[in-house]
Amino acid sequence: MKDFNYYAPTEVVFGENSEEQVARLIKKYGGTKVLIHYGGQSAMRSGLLPKIYGLLDEGGVAYVSLGGVVPNPRLSLAKEGIELCRKEGVDFILAVGGGSVIDSAKCIAYGACMNEDVWNLYLGKAEAPKTMLPVAAVLTIPAAGSEMSEASVITNEDGDVKLGYSNNRSRPKFAIMNPRRTFTLPPYQTAAGVTDMMMHTMERYFTKDDDMDLTTDLAEAVLRRMKTAVFDVLKNPNDYRQRAQIMWGGSIAHNGLTGCGVQDDWATHQLEHELSGMFDVTHGAGLAAIWPSWARYVMHENLSRFVRFAVNVMDIPNDFSDPKGTAVKGIEAMERFYHAIGMPINIKELIGRDITDAEIKEMTRKCSRNYTHTCGCLKELKAEDMEAIYQKARG
Ligand code: NZQ
Ligand code: ZN
Repeated sequence: MKDFNYYAPTEVVFGENSEEQVARLIKKYGGTKVLIHYGGQSAMRSGLLPKIYGLLDEGGVAYVSLGGVVPNPRLSLAKEGIELCRKEGVDFILAVGGGSVIDSAKCIAYGACMNEDVWNLYLGKAEAPKTMLPVAAVLTIPAAGSEMSEASVITNEDGDVKLGYSNNRSRPKFAIMNPRRTFTLPPYQTAAGVTDMMMHTMERYFTKDDDMDLTTDLAEAVLRRMKTAVFDVLKNPNDYRQRAQIMWGGSIAHNGLTGCGVQDDWATHQLEHELSGMFDVTHGAGLAAIWPSWARYVMHENLSRFVRFAVNVMDIPNDFSDPKGTAVKGIEAMERFYHAIGMPINIKELIGRDITDAEIKEMTRKCSRNYTHTCGCLKELKAEDMEAIYQKARG
């Protein structure tokens, strides 16, 4: 069994009207001048942002704000945020939104304390920062899990390169989660979010290590619960109980709990980042377009895991005489699930046209960092494997 450290320092404040505690929490974690960072219009339209401004005014917390974060958050806006923090003497960043806003906030929080270009962190060229501004989140879309995770993923428009950087310091101080705030999510974002959180669990589930049974049990419970809850909320977007399952599921799926004692894989994510970097697609949908092809390509590396997934998660009867057949049926069932919730199962369905060989070669080049990096660990994928999976996924 793999030894592990489990570190999940984020204070989770979950439930109806939880945002009302925002000023108290910011003060508790030392914030005196806050950057409120947000996305397009959803948080304004829903009344959440005006409510937060009011609560901070009431609580005597000074703030400035910067909106405009787009899905697949851009480096240029984060750099604007870094300048703003320096100019205004900001000492705390509150992200109001989803993974894109929280990731952009983390990037600003690093950059505001660095003497060099923050992008160097994402390129792996800068030393791990010894300090950064504290970040917290008011979550409006359960998906990325960034509200408890150590990761941030940023897109540099110069070259459409999307890269992640992980550091435990960036785990948010607190995460406010009110499931009612997710009622306004469109079906596509709801489904893409659930796909992403399930994938965060699956990246840790499909591994060579299968001796941490409790971790496996937890992962299967998360997957099964998300798989049913998503249909309930697609049918009734105002179902508080099921929205709550999904909201908490998104955090559990990516706060490390479903990865204790196993070596995680992350190949599907790395392959997907090139899709959202190049085509600006929704991350969760990109994962659905890649996963079936990845799974078919690597399943022989740990067939019994894929059989277990088929039986315990996808409810496929176990045909003991044909483990490969059972494993394939599990992957096919996952494809039917993706379609049932409106997700694509290949790149053509994702981008609405055939991808070209040249585009596949370019994604392969980027994913392998100019043919110098591999990804994944269930099967360590070399550039030729990445290209083969993209080809399989073209549809
Ligand atoms: O911009 P607004 O108007 O707010 O609209 C957003 C956005 O268009 C909308 N939305 C959010 N809350 C809403 C809402 N619409 C209606 N009602 C609400 N309550 O949803 C859209 C998507 O938002 P986004 O923040 O992009 O979604 P998500 O949370 O899925 O984040 C995706 C990003 O997270 C990264 C992905 O790569 C992607 O860039 N990831 C970050 C991770 C991490 N930091 O640990 C891990 C993940 O694997 C993921 O890679
Ligand atoms: Zn993800």
